[in-house]
Amino acid sequence: MATSKLDSKINIMVVGGGGREHALCWKIAQSQFAGTIYCAPGNGGTEEDSRITNVDLQVTDFARLSDFALENRVDMVVIGPDNPLADGIVDFMEERGLTVFGPKKEAAKLEWSKAHSKQFMLQHKIPTARFSVAEDFEAAQKFVKENDWARVIKADGLALGKGVFVCNSESEALDALSAIFKEGRFGEAGSTVVIEEKLIGEELSLLLLIDGKTVMPLSACQDHKRRFDGDKGPNTGGMGAYSPVRLFETHKHAIEDQVIKPIEQALKNGTLDFKGMLFAGILVGVPATVNGEESDSNTDLVPFVLEFNARFGDPETQALMPRLKSDILPLLWACAKGSLASEEIEWFDRAAVCVVLSAENYPQSSSKGKEIVVGELPAGSYLFHAGTQFNDGKLLTNGGRVLALTALGETIEKARENAYRAIKEVKFADMACRSDIALREVSQCLST
Ligand code: AMP
Ligand code: GLY
Repeated sequence: MATSKLDSKINIMVVGGGGREHALCWKIAQSQFAGTIYCAPGNGGTEEDSRITNVDLQVTDFARLSDFALENRVDMVVIGPDNPLADGIVDFMEERGLTVFGPKKEAAKLEWSKAHSKQFMLQHKIPTARFSVAEDFEAAQKFVKENDWARVIKADGLALGKGVFVCNSESEALDALSAIFKEGRFGEAGSTVVIEEKLIGEELSLLLLIDGKTVMPLSACQDHKRRFDGDKGPNTGGMGAYSPVRLFETHKHAIEDQVIKPIEQALKNGTLDFKGMLFAGILVGVPATVNGEESDSNTDLVPFVLEFNARFGDPETQALMPRLKSDILPLLWACAKGSLASEEIEWFDRAAVCVVLSAENYPQSSSKGKEIVVGELPAGSYLFHAGTQFNDGKLLTNGGRVLALTALGETIEKARENAYRAIKEVKFADMACRSDIALREVSQCLST
């Protein structure tokens, strides 16, 4: 068995069944240290890849997942999704003697409680939107009425990215509070709300590998959360992503000083005990209003952290994995073993654009049982599966986000052209995608 520095092959189990987990398995399969790779439950894409074995166990079934890992000599378990982390899968598996990539329940609270996450940011002076926390409708309503900056309402707990309301008026904010407290739209996750100041600016996703002491940032990404072109329509799990991001390069020093350094400090002084992936959703911008007036364009831009996630992003991971030059397994292993300081990370000097192919009516409904036909994909393009499954040898749709196609290119513009060209090779009856993924980045690059 390998020690804190990976020096022999190891068996891995990835927990999850989405596009993120397919992309992780795909990258792990290229590692010189990869022994047997299991994915639980996996999807059609992990089933199709002969280097990966799907295991028919759900991410919530901690006991059977642990039994399987122990019986099959799994050396490291990699947790993909947020809900098992919030339910303590890492604590459970470590108690059974397994090595796990991912934070324990208390550390993952940075994702599963937005109120906790905001307190952490306040305590460590990480820039974040002004906020207040309320535990009942009356208090929340009073706060919104008394504070004209209180325009963003967030359910405290996990809500599949749907528990955030960015409002334009007091009455919209009050409606959001009714949806959370009166209609109970988010159940337990909505028993507390975070009320925030509205910010305006541009967003990016910064993924940080952490081993308890050391922070290693991945290349920056940007995802597209809204369902329709022009960032219109409902929020989704993510309709596409790209990397690298010019916005990050422009604000790199501020992000290092104001976001990464305080996290390193918190690890050092013991106020944060985290290993795995910490993903910061950052908005570089300004408060929408200052003293009731619209912000003027001369105000200095600040990298505000909107939220933390305690896992890899989806679809950020599908965009990042084809750009990652380093072997991923030594990095994941070092996070689990506390030896990240002796690792390095390298990226291919090419851009990636990832376009999600969803069901037409996603996020309202998903696609089920439609045949997926994939032609010859051009070199440099990769098809990651999410909601797919095989039935009688046929690849069928089985989810809202069905596939994610990532293409590389010398520039974002080329990667984008390559991605949309490759998509023409993929068909299913109710397929839909946004046609403007990475377009803003392309126009910014072209305009300078
Ligand atoms: P979150 O899950 O907290 O990242 O929020 C989801 C999305 O809501 C973000 O990606 C932003 O687009 C938007 N959002 C969240 N908080 C704010 C805020 N304080 N001001 C403006 N937009 C926000
Ligand atoms: N793409 C955003 C997320 O993974 O939460």
